[in-house]
Amino acid sequence: MTTRLTIRRPDDWHLHLRDGAMMAAVLPYTARQFARAIVMPNLSPPVTTAKAAAAYRERILAALPEGMDFTPLMTAYLTDDTDPDEIAAGFADGTWVAAKLYPAGATTNSSSGVTDIRKIDAVVARMEEIGMPLLAHGEVTHDEVDIFDREARFIDEVAIPLLKRHRALRFVFEHITTKDAAEFVAGGSERIAATITPQHLQINRNAIFKGGINPHAYCLPVAKREEHRLAVRKAATGGSGKFFLGTDSAPHAKSAKESACGCAGIFNAPFALEAYAEVFEEEGALDRLEAFASLDGPRFYRLPANEERITLERVETAVPASLEGGGEPIVPYRAGGRMRWRLA
Ligand code: NCD
Ligand code: ZN
Repeated sequence: MTTRLTIRRPDDWHLHLRDGAMMAAVLPYTARQFARAIVMPNLSPPVTTAKAAAAYRERILAALPEGMDFTPLMTAYLTDDTDPDEIAAGFADGTWVAAKLYPAGATTNSSSGVTDIRKIDAVVARMEEIGMPLLAHGEVTHDEVDIFDREARFIDEVAIPLLKRHRALRFVFEHITTKDAAEFVAGGSERIAATITPQHLQINRNAIFKGGINPHAYCLPVAKREEHRLAVRKAATGGSGKFFLGTDSAPHAKSAKESACGCAGIFNAPFALEAYAEVFEEEGALDRLEAFASLDGPRFYRLPANEERITLERVETAVPASLEGGGEPIVPYRAGGRMRWRLA
């Protein structure tokens, strides 16, 4: 049995860091494991300008504890009114590396998102031209579509026509949760990739309802049936190179989760790598963890892989029931449970 595993230092290709006191509280958990992270722009108000993204990056770097080494990679939040020149200028000067498509109303702080994909055609055309990746929250939002079908419907209604209109667009299907999305990405060209979260590898939709309503198992896209979880696990561990690590760690205060209208989002940053290691171990694919965590993401983003190494040890670790979240407690993923691995 493998009991120690040394791999290149990984990156997190999908992360919510929030702002202010909460950001300062959660940032060290990510920086402990990951060298870089794609930082989501769904602040309130959202990060729609290069100026706002640059200021946000400065706040992140200022909050980073002494001695920690971490590079935030910023993103633009697309709206119906996004100016292609603004997006292209921020990409050219290195302020941001990608732009995020939130269909309006799809998730936390998405009310300023895109109401109709055709409205951003000029922006997407420019991104295609300059090689800037489009990161999609891949769900349709119409009320008549069942919440468990929203990702699959996004493929036919949005992704396929979009990728036909923009044949060179580099596209990341974020936090995939379905067999449909896994097959779509696996069958697509090299310019299409996907991120996968720990929770969508480890829980199915039963977790949300087991013994009562479990708000800490609720995120968007919502966890699906077991067959989908198994398909997503095969995608992550199969070594195709098109699926890579993106935690979608999305902290909310305990009081905001445990409420009559509990926020969507799972705070998995504290033990994310440990959770992925469990999955790869269970699938007999520990030899592929490094590609998923540390190589395939940089290759897609055209960045060098990290040179440093980290070591995981097969030593049980307890997950606290709650963590300090900058004034209010936050309940982490697998709170009160045990992880089978730990970062040495
Ligand atoms: C995210 C958040 O809280 O910002 N929530 C979530 O459930 N994943 C937004 C998102 O990525 O959908
Ligand atoms: Zn997210």
